[in-house]
Amino acid sequence: MSFDLSVTSSKKIILAVTGGIAAYKSAILVRRLKDFGFDVRVVMTRGAQAFITPLTFQALSGHPVHTELLDAEAESGMGHIELARWADLLLVAPASCDILAKFACGLADDLLSTLYLATNAPVWVAPATNQQMWAAPATQRNLKTLVEDGVHVIMPASGSQACGDVGLGRMPEPEDLAYQVMEYFHKQQRAIAEKFGLLAGKRVVITAGPTREAIDPVRYISNHSTGKMGFALAAACYAAGAKVTLISGPVSLDTPNGVKRLKVSSAIQMLDESMQMLDKGCDIFIATAAVADYRVAEVAEHKIKKAGDELAVSLIKNPDIVATIAQQEKRPFMVGFAAETRNIEEYAAGKLVAKKLDMIACNDVSRADIGFASDENAMIVFFADQYHMEKRELEKASKQDIAQQLVEAISDAINQEQQPV
Ligand code: C5P
Repeated sequence: MSFDLSVTSSKKIILAVTGGIAAYKSAILVRRLKDFGFDVRVVMTRGAQAFITPLTFQALSGHPVHTELLDAEAESGMGHIELARWADLLLVAPASCDILAKFACGLADDLLSTLYLATNAPVWVAPATNQQMWAAPATQRNLKTLVEDGVHVIMPASGSQACGDVGLGRMPEPEDLAYQVMEYFHKQQRAIAEKFGLLAGKRVVITAGPTREAIDPVRYISNHSTGKMGFALAAACYAAGAKVTLISGPVSLDTPNGVKRLKVSSAIQMLDESMQMLDKGCDIFIATAAVADYRVAEVAEHKIKKAGDELAVSLIKNPDIVATIAQQEKRPFMVGFAAETRNIEEYAAGKLVAKKLDMIACNDVSRADIGFASDENAMIVFFADQYHMEKRELEKASKQDIAQQLVEAISDAINQEQQPV
């Protein structure tokens, strides 16, 4: 599954490290959080510094580590109130029994306990402690208080402990923790998109990639489509609040987070899945797939043996998926793509009319720098209703940016359609 890193790269995390042997895991945690694009600042208690040095965290986070509350020099940089306001999340990992007790009582006698009181960001604690200390009534009482105060407690795992005991108290692995943080921000972003996104509540179906038309059990006819544009559009539609189904031919791309993917091979299978999706309900149909125009008339049951200097394979026309969907009674808003090598605008506008589409996005695949296997694209978009045709040029940009511009164009067109005349 692929995640949209733009969601996490704008987020700021304070990772607070307290005294405990699990502090060594926090060094890896910084790396994993940075891998997701988070901006990470590290705060350390005095106890933490007995286990691992601030220099380690400074090198990994790329920022000076915050250790003191009443340090004039540190306060003249980013003071504790500023730091508390800066954060989108305060993650305490490992959280010692001592810091849980301080949080629960509202003490403010060091930097971390003060930050806890001063921030209105969500607070997560990942307790890591000896199993006896974890089970102690005072610790459990403090945890209960913290949960009541709205703190998210990441339960420790069970297993062998550094002190030789076996039981509850191990800090979860850094990979798990970083993943949970990343998922949290994605869910938060999704909730906003579902309410306010450009395609909030819309059901979008996207065809993508090439199709494979079998010749015999081991051979097929296909094309060079990588599916990148369709996958980028699926991610952009999801980010805009839509419910997205991607019907894709064989490609080597990860499914974007949140997108439902149906894997197909031939054009006939792609059409079948598209019709089924139409039955289930579809508001916008986007055809980015490079569907093979022809398929083999009679697929050989067994591998065709080498014989003679020539081999003739008879081809028959495949159904036009986007045109078929556009003819249905329950017709969604229809978006097609056109890849041309010449007379681009003329051919694209012709296809818009011939296939009865609402919008067509076309690009010049004769240009080596854009199109098919490239990561960049430049497009011209035509919209049409029964009265007029409109043109919009999209600048050369990454397929992600083009996908975003297309989402805006689709949203504009849909909203225009819904305006009373
Ligand atoms: O006719 P042409 O292949 O150039 O049209 C391109 C557009 O039509 C694309 O949106 C493509 O996904 C769609 N198409 C289709 N089924 C076909 C051929 C093309 O949906 N059999």
